[in-house]
Amino acid sequence: MVITLALRSWDAQPPQVDREGAVTALETGHVLYLPHLAFAMRDEERIFLSARYSNPGSKNISFNPMTDELRGLGRGTRKEEYAPLAAMMARYARGARRLLDILLPRYQPFLETGRTSFRPAEIAGRIASSCRKDDTRLHVDAFPASPVLGKRILRIFSNVSPDGKKREWRIGEPFEAVARHFVGRIRPPLPGSATLLRLLRVTRDRRALYDHFMLDLHNRMKVDGAYQDDSPQTNVHFAPGSTWMVFTDQVPHAAMAGQHALEQTFYLPVSALATPEQSPLRILERLTGYRLV
Ligand code: SIN
Ligand code: FE
Repeated sequence: MVITLALRSWDAQPPQVDREGAVTALETGHVLYLPHLAFAMRDEERIFLSARYSNPGSKNISFNPMTDELRGLGRGTRKEEYAPLAAMMARYARGARRLLDILLPRYQPFLETGRTSFRPAEIAGRIASSCRKDDTRLHVDAFPASPVLGKRILRIFSNVSPDGKKREWRIGEPFEAVARHFVGRIRPPLPGSATLLRLLRVTRDRRALYDHFMLDLHNRMKVDGAYQDDSPQTNVHFAPGSTWMVFTDQVPHAAMAGQHALEQTFYLPVSALATPEQSPLRILERLTGYRLV
């Protein structure tokens, strides 16, 4: 479920065997764990390791590396702290991109950089506003407002805990098993609803059938208490000072405990995969008989 690589640097060329192994590991639904790869925070950035900087209503501070826009800041943040916080997140975004470019060169021409997030709040004991927003429940990622139109979601995380806290996850069964469990209950959307959601600005783009199926799958997994408790799953943890990456649209995951993480999202077209037939898109198309994008 978790494959470990001994990498210690964000920009040193990894050996060929690691590069090939990384693609296979990710596409077959493993988490790639780099226990010795730490994101180094600068001394003056340590003040951000306080939940004061995040908004109690949103679990993370989000940064757009394309526009430098910061969102979700807590009321405790002073104006003059925006720039250093944005600079730290931009550095993480650049480091993550560089690492992916050298570790996964076959994806490099196709990889799209998404948002960066900083998660300074403790997960355990947090009250989610709804079951669907509760990431302590096993789920595959799907974004209600941002259709991916079939693209893969590849995320990289770093545990930057200053006080030795592990980040504890549960990891669930292979995507095909999840899909088989739920797909018979998923109905196609009503005709015209994708256009309506776009017009009402519920979505940033027109939802593809794929987005509809993935979002429904995400929601059904989260609200199904029996699935949460009884489906095959493993507890894993990521040590402070470590980094890991995973296709979060494919691998069921739940974040149970931990504090202080950085995360960078990337999007990748299915055509850039070495084995597109293992993607959620192709698996769902096979199981439903629909063309989903
Ligand atoms: C999630 O993607 O569900 C949360 C992961 C985390 O914050 O560790
Ligand atoms: Fe998630």
